[in-house]
Amino acid sequence: MTVQKDRIGVGIVGCGNISGAYFRGLERFDGLRIVGCTDLSQELAQAAGERYGVPVFASVEELAAAEGVDILVNLTPPLAHESVTRALLATGKHVFTEKPLTASFATAAPLVAEARERGVLFGSAPDTFLGSAGQTARAAVDEGLIGEVIGASAFVTHSKAELWHPDPTFLFIPGGGPALDMGPYYIAALVNLLGPVASVSARARIGSTVRPVSTPERRVESIDVTIPTHASATLDFASGAIGTVLASFDVWDHNLPFIELYGSKGTLSVPDPNNYDDAVRVRLHGEGEWRELPPVIDGFTDGLLEELLPLRGPGVADLAAALTGEPHRTSADFALHVLEVLDAIANGTDGVHTLTTTCERPAPSTGTWRSASLEETAIA
Ligand SMILES: NC(=O)c1ccc[n+]([C@@H]2O[C@H](COP(=O)([O-])OP(=O)(O)OC[C@H]3O[C@@H](n4cnc5c(N)ncnc54)[C@H](O)[C@@H]3O)[C@@H](O)[C@H]2O)c1
Repeated sequence: MTVQKDRIGVGIVGCGNISGAYFRGLERFDGLRIVGCTDLSQELAQAAGERYGVPVFASVEELAAAEGVDILVNLTPPLAHESVTRALLATGKHVFTEKPLTASFATAAPLVAEARERGVLFGSAPDTFLGSAGQTARAAVDEGLIGEVIGASAFVTHSKAELWHPDPTFLFIPGGGPALDMGPYYIAALVNLLGPVASVSARARIGSTVRPVSTPERRVESIDVTIPTHASATLDFASGAIGTVLASFDVWDHNLPFIELYGSKGTLSVPDPNNYDDAVRVRLHGEGEWRELPPVIDGFTDGLLEELLPLRGPGVADLAAALTGEPHRTSADFALHVLEVLDAIANGTDGVHTLTTTCERPAPSTGTWRSASLEETAIA
């Protein structure tokens, strides 16, 4: 059924650390309006409701039943993503989830199928590749600026959480690890640039079995590590490009780039894929120095939350625009393929793992959908 609507209504599920970046970030999109929020902790939900001026609901079901809710956004921890997303899909609403899609490929695949059966849109972070950096790098590749892309490298070297986080246990138990925590930004960026991965070979191990927590505000003294924290992988892209990926919580200091593409005509330097809008640089063979590429679309980074987190929301706006017939760039199908790659990296492979999923590269973004007035939508 097609209905007339000025703005798409969004309900927020999970009012923890990242939620402020959504409450503030979604305000920037003319076509969206936050209808309400909920959390297992009513205290947290009330605090967020008061801080951001949003009605608070006692449960997911009450939030979903509220007038005008079209999209439910899952901002719960990774290990809760599967059960919470299942509950959100059961309400019949469209669903967007924070990354990773779920804590494992095996648990995510049935949810993607369920969303399809229910006829609702299902989207997932990361959405940072929709920013000006991801789109500028994509345009450079598509225009053949660096020629044929022969190889790529990505270095996911997030560490030192023990020095500042009061309880980083979640990073060192199932659902955590460098591949699932920060890896989604890197692999989504690579698949956006180079297309789907055909196979992965990876080795993974635990670095230190015990991680002492040293911040004065710590709530735990140390963590027993139960999952690999250091992985090295080779990705064979269907395009023929070969990717080198390091994902580690054991690389404390380094001189590595974030992402680089090595082409027959030059090298493309892609900035931190956890951000939307940093500079993309290129150096063609024989050129004396690196040069910055002019951004092909406007950026999203028009604000930081108090905690210095970049504001979020492009993926939710992308899903809303998909309801009007725009391509769904941050679809769960795309995220499922990315998760299958991440799962293989995170746990290591016994020989070569041939991917069971594939995906289309997301359509390049013109940026126009971001402020589109969503007057006509196909919401049942
Ligand atoms: N914190 C960050 O900097 C950051 C950045 C990018 C993405 N993310 C992603 O955002 C998600 C949330 O991370 P966070 O740091 O905000 O976690 P958090 O633990 O601070 O907050 C999660 C909230 O979800 C609530 N919750 C758990 N189960 C629930 C349920 N069944 N129903 C309703 N509420 C429930 C918890 O009570 C908690 O308030 C994760 O997927 C994470 O990967 C976090």
